[in-house]
Amino acid sequence: MNNQSKYENIKNLLQKYKQEHLLNHYESLSLHEQESLLNEIQRIDFEKIVMLYNQIVNCNNDGEIEFKPLEAQNWGELDKKQKEHFNALGMDLIKNGKVASLVVAGGQGSRLGCDGPKGTYNIGLPSQKSLFQLQAERLINLSNKVNRFIPWYVMTNPENHEETLYFFKKNRFFGYPQHEIFFFKQDVLPALDMNGKILMSSPSQICFVPNGNGGCFSALKRSGGLNDLKQRGVEWLFYYNVDNALIKVADPGFIGYSHVKGHPIASKVIEKRNPDEKVGLFVLKNGRPSVIEYTELPENIKQQKNLSEQLLYNQANISIHLFHINFIEKVVDCNLPYRVAKKSIKTISGQVDAYKFELFIFDLFPYSKSMTIIKVNREEEFAPVKNKTGPDSPSTAKNLVLNLHRKWLLNAGIPEELIDDRVIEISPLVSYCGEGLSVDLVQNQLNPLVIERSQIK
Ligand code: UD1
Repeated sequence: MNNQSKYENIKNLLQKYKQEHLLNHYESLSLHEQESLLNEIQRIDFEKIVMLYNQIVNCNNDGEIEFKPLEAQNWGELDKKQKEHFNALGMDLIKNGKVASLVVAGGQGSRLGCDGPKGTYNIGLPSQKSLFQLQAERLINLSNKVNRFIPWYVMTNPENHEETLYFFKKNRFFGYPQHEIFFFKQDVLPALDMNGKILMSSPSQICFVPNGNGGCFSALKRSGGLNDLKQRGVEWLFYYNVDNALIKVADPGFIGYSHVKGHPIASKVIEKRNPDEKVGLFVLKNGRPSVIEYTELPENIKQQKNLSEQLLYNQANISIHLFHINFIEKVVDCNLPYRVAKKSIKTISGQVDAYKFELFIFDLFPYSKSMTIIKVNREEEFAPVKNKTGPDSPSTAKNLVLNLHRKWLLNAGIPEELIDDRVIEISPLVSYCGEGLSVDLVQNQLNPLVIERSQIK
């Protein structure tokens, strides 16, 4: 089809959906830009846009909902032998190629105000390692123990994809074999103004925004990643956010425990810091495991206390999930609900209020009757990097990592006077969660001291 007839077709389509303004600048564009704009418009599912906007206008109520707290196993209450057992089982599963990990790294990092992909962020540790490097090294640590690399799936968005790839290449994949990393792009949707009009970021470009982490399995399928997982014989997929500096990627204890429990999904939770903490909340919703996002949490659920005056709903979502491959296959084509958020975004007419539509990964949970929930220790597992300053910022995440490493040394029996008030960082290549540390590693008096693998004799 030549450009003129393509243009006519698209013009008619836009008239039908009352989005003609997308061609307002068409005549002033170069031939190349015209072509690219027409292609972008062709990618839009206009029926879906109408449906999404109607959803806002009509704002349906869910009807009567019954909430109950969800049972969790406290990992800290298992004895040493049980923990070792589950850990060994998880390591066996990793060794037999049954485990892969998936990081969702397609978010825009707007609260952090970081221009590049969030995983490239350096939180200011003495080693200056990026979030991606910390994750890669934890995976390598486990992989080395079983002589087999854990396949790693990295979800990007169309905008940060090339930059993410470039960062990995520049850093030689942090020592990870390239064929064990699978990069794939998530879907995007146009942002709408308050009247349902699609926004433009320039005369030739639509304002596309990532469609939320809940789109990760359909994107994985579309990219061939799901087939790749199946061909490798993977059973469990370990899912996590890119922005948690303490993430125990592919945690074998968690995997071993969840494998024994046999539910199709497992999640780690922590106690909420306070009722207003910006984290999703695990609940039973009409008898099904669910997460209520912090943006949608009703005040009565947020504040409700039990007889001992403690928060009744207190299981925070830290976005660490484990999915069985059979479950993923079963739900991959499900229509998850779109959530709408009102955000200020940059457009051709400056900064404007826009509707942004997202799918949430945890909306898959109610598709299973039951889930394994493990309560873990916040200080050991959750150091989110969300805001530029204040709580959940690079500086709080850095301190959490350094404090944990200090605690590991003390637990390993290293005398306090040898550590003193020195800043000590332990490479994930040396220790995954505090194992294998000895006094000779802290003998020199450097401050800060970065304990790297080269120091291990
Ligand atoms: C998320 C959880 C929240 C949880 C918190 C813990 C969701 C919907 N909410 O909230 O319940 O308590 O983490 O830290 O998951 N992402 C994409 N593509 C997108 C959007 C996001 O890959 O289109 C990725 C981000 O890169 C990030 C993760 O999803 O790794 C979470 O996104 P973010 O927007 O940071 O979620 P939070 O609001 O922090």
